[in-house]
Amino acid sequence: MLLKGKTAIVTGAARGIGKAIAIKFAQQGANVAITDLAIDDNVLAFEAELNGIGIKAKAFASNAANYEETQTVVDEIVKEFGQVDILVNNAGITKDTLLMRMTEEMWDAVIAVNLKSVFNFTKAVQRTMLKQRNGSIINMSSVVGVSGNAGQANYSASKAGIIGFTKSIAKELGSRNIRCNAIAPGFIITEMTAKLSEEVRNDWAEKIPLKRGGTPEEVADACIFLASDLSTYVSGQVLNVCGAMNT
Ligand code: NAI
Repeated sequence: MLLKGKTAIVTGAARGIGKAIAIKFAQQGANVAITDLAIDDNVLAFEAELNGIGIKAKAFASNAANYEETQTVVDEIVKEFGQVDILVNNAGITKDTLLMRMTEEMWDAVIAVNLKSVFNFTKAVQRTMLKQRNGSIINMSSVVGVSGNAGQANYSASKAGIIGFTKSIAKELGSRNIRCNAIAPGFIITEMTAKLSEEVRNDWAEKIPLKRGGTPEEVADACIFLASDLSTYVSGQVLNVCGAMNT
């Protein structure tokens, strides 16, 4: 098992990519703290499923965009688990439209949830990771953060911001054995992309050299690599998981 004895926080893990990461981490022996906006019966069932794998798992309600809430929830997690070795900043939203129709609210909401959340959680775990002299931070960017996309100026800006943050933190905390990398998924089949029309989804799939959308599990596998000791000399990088779409 690649993550035995490690504790991970995965934000926005009630569904989609975050959920797949939490399951894969648990299967690799990690204890997992999952967060999402609300902890409903579905999330509690998921928490039970994770505990059934034989590791310790607990779900926490937290708005990742809120600075104070994040400090509080990370304090609770540290109290409960005693350590934080891996942080996956996965929570994210889209509010897509052309700039002409994009409101200030649409801009602010996407920047707060996608980008400020990464600052919030990284800052909140920093002290624990510094004390441990060990940590792997994985930030969920996107191929559109690398290359831009019409109709997603807010989302692309937030995901590009994540890349700048990732590279800076890798430089700032590297001397304390804390690594920080970003993953840039391409077109992944989740509820986020289910919002798009079938025509748009087929069009995307056609443009991807591997001729299909990716699965949340395929993104989670890349996270295992970056979270584990398989990547102890990898930091400050952006790993594209995109079926060669972004080349
Ligand atoms: P999703 O919409 O299926 O799941 C996102 C989760 O984040 C949900 O459970 C939601 O409740 C939670 N969330 C939203 N706002 C939150 C907040 N303020 N605080 C805490 N949790 C919050 O999305 P999906 O597809 O699983 O995406 C996960 C991450 O991967 C996001 O950061 C997304 O931008 C990124 N990504 C997704 C791609 C895709 O094709 N699906 C492609 C590239 C990146």
